[in-house]
Amino acid sequence: MVLRYLVRRGSRPQQGGRSRPSPQLLVPLLLLCVLMVVTVVFEITSRVEPQQQQHRNLTRLELELEESTSSRSSNIKDLGAAPQTKRATTRAPAPVPVARQLASDAKDNNWQRNNNLSGPYHNWRLFKADYQEMLHNLRIYVYPDVFINNQSFARVFLPHPNPKDPKIGNYFSEHAFKTALLGSSLVTSRAEEAHFFFMPFSINAMRNDPRLHSVKSISDFVAQYTNRISSEFKFWNASGGADHFYACCHSIGREAASKHHDLHNSAIQITCSSSYFQRLFISHKDVGLPQVWPRPPHQLLNPPHARNKLVFFAGRKQNSRIREKILASWGNDTLMDIFSGNLSFPYEEGFQRSKYCLHVKGYEVNTARVSDAIHYGCIPVIISNYYDLPFANVLDWSKFSIIISEEDVAFLKKILLSVSRQRYLTMYHNLCLVRRHFRWHTPPRSYDSFYMTAYQLWLRRGLQLLSSN
Ligand SMILES: *[C@@H]1O[C@H](CO)[C@@H](O)[C@H](O)[C@H]1NC(C)=O
Ligand SMILES: *[C@@H]1O[C@H](CO)[C@@H](O)[C@H](O)[C@H]1NC(C)=O
Ligand SMILES: *[C@@H]1O[C@H](CO)[C@@H](O)[C@H](O)[C@H]1NC(C)=O
Ligand SMILES: *[C@@H]1O[C@H](CO)[C@@H](O)[C@H](O)[C@H]1NC(C)=O
Ligand SMILES: *[C@@H]1O[C@H](CO)[C@@H](O)[C@H](O)[C@H]1NC(C)=O
Ligand SMILES: *[C@@H]1O[C@H](CO)[C@@H](O)[C@H](O)[C@H]1NC(C)=O
Repeated sequence: MVLRYLVRRGSRPQQGGRSRPSPQLLVPLLLLCVLMVVTVVFEITSRVEPQQQQHRNLTRLELELEESTSSRSSNIKDLGAAPQTKRATTRAPAPVPVARQLASDAKDNNWQRNNNLSGPYHNWRLFKADYQEMLHNLRIYVYPDVFINNQSFARVFLPHPNPKDPKIGNYFSEHAFKTALLGSSLVTSRAEEAHFFFMPFSINAMRNDPRLHSVKSISDFVAQYTNRISSEFKFWNASGGADHFYACCHSIGREAASKHHDLHNSAIQITCSSSYFQRLFISHKDVGLPQVWPRPPHQLLNPPHARNKLVFFAGRKQNSRIREKILASWGNDTLMDIFSGNLSFPYEEGFQRSKYCLHVKGYEVNTARVSDAIHYGCIPVIISNYYDLPFANVLDWSKFSIIISEEDVAFLKKILLSVSRQRYLTMYHNLCLVRRHFRWHTPPRSYDSFYMTAYQLWLRRGLQLLSSN
């Protein structure tokens, strides 16, 4: 009932203040409060003693979070079946019910309270409240090319038939985003109610199409497509493109918007190549997307005490001066696994047996190494200036990673050895908490990479109202 009330408050909440609940809502609200208090008391009394809590198994901790985002039933879940009826008009196949997401969110709150962690967020409470507004209200319209399979460039627009194909590699996030969006509860077929418009072309698919392939042809194609939708539909002209967005991941996409002025100046680019020095990246307008490799789901993490190497890094040293310097300084250090060229052990093992994993700028600032480190529970050490880290307005990266200026790389080992055991463990806890933000699911799950990215769009809603004047 409460949920139905929230939904009815309208799909454009940014335009008005909060209205007060009417008297007939007070009873259900009170019931909800009582239920929440009972749940919290139960959770607290069933916790282990603080002494034991200190020795909590960190792999358990990770599992708890896994559970909280899966589809377990709970009391709170039963309160809200309403929002699904609202979704009846969407084209999305089997969206994940909002009620289920709220249920798992409630569990996360209990977890945070009971473990007394300020956690890896700038402000979890504010974020969570606004995020839930987003779940209920954000609407995205997808241009119909994504559903048309008989046009000549259909493959450029259709969702990838197998986004998990390991051959996709660095482009995985681009395909995973589109697939997740189409399976989410945010898609609407009623363009009039949409906050945003998705242009469903795939840079990776163009790269693999011999008719396009080159950087030049790709940017021509993208410009033509933008002109096409702006003449066939009224939405582009209404905002000058400011409420339109597209996704791309990895180098070839960086120039895609270069042949269309409004596309690169006004539309939102959701991109893995989110660094301040990229010519076509505009921070605050554009959105940083985590670059993720398709990795098998991996539930058990190697705990801190089983990580006996200080550092892991593997990557081509010739890609940057700074990598060369790191190799020259510590290539032979027995405490550190630092390699250029072939490894003598599996790549994953490097992440599993080290406390810290280096992310050192090569040709590009972004690589999948950051998400790999997060995936395998290795604290990321980021040595790549000007990287607009994904979700940095929500996540406080200093709570679960170490950021070192390229100028200070000579002090790398000293800096890492000076981190106290307590601080390391806190970072490790926080790293476990942020793992869910660096994963893709089909259909998407609450707080995963898709919904975190959608939240970035939510923060940019309404700007088009200014630009259309
Ligand atoms: C941590 O969990 C793992 C897997 O469940 C178990 O094998 C191990 O004994 C646990 N360690 C501690 C200290 O409880
Ligand atoms: C929670 O953590 C803060 C800061 O570390 C500490 O001051 C406070 O005493 C803790 N509260 C509880 C209930 O453990
Ligand atoms: C594609 O299919 C639609 C309906 O299925 C049809 O209306 C349209 O003419 C077809 N286009 C081409 C180029 O065959
Ligand atoms: C949008 O503007 C362009 C350029 O001014 C124009 O060619 C196009 O017809 C307009 N689109 C619509 C739907 O009116
Ligand atoms: C590392 O070891 C190799 C082989 O022993 C040697 O050639 C190289 O100079 C050493 N590098 C450093 C930085 O000490
Ligand atoms: C590294 O591995 C690749 C493929 O496994 C192989 O082709 C190459 O020769 C190896 N390089 C060295 C220096 O061993």
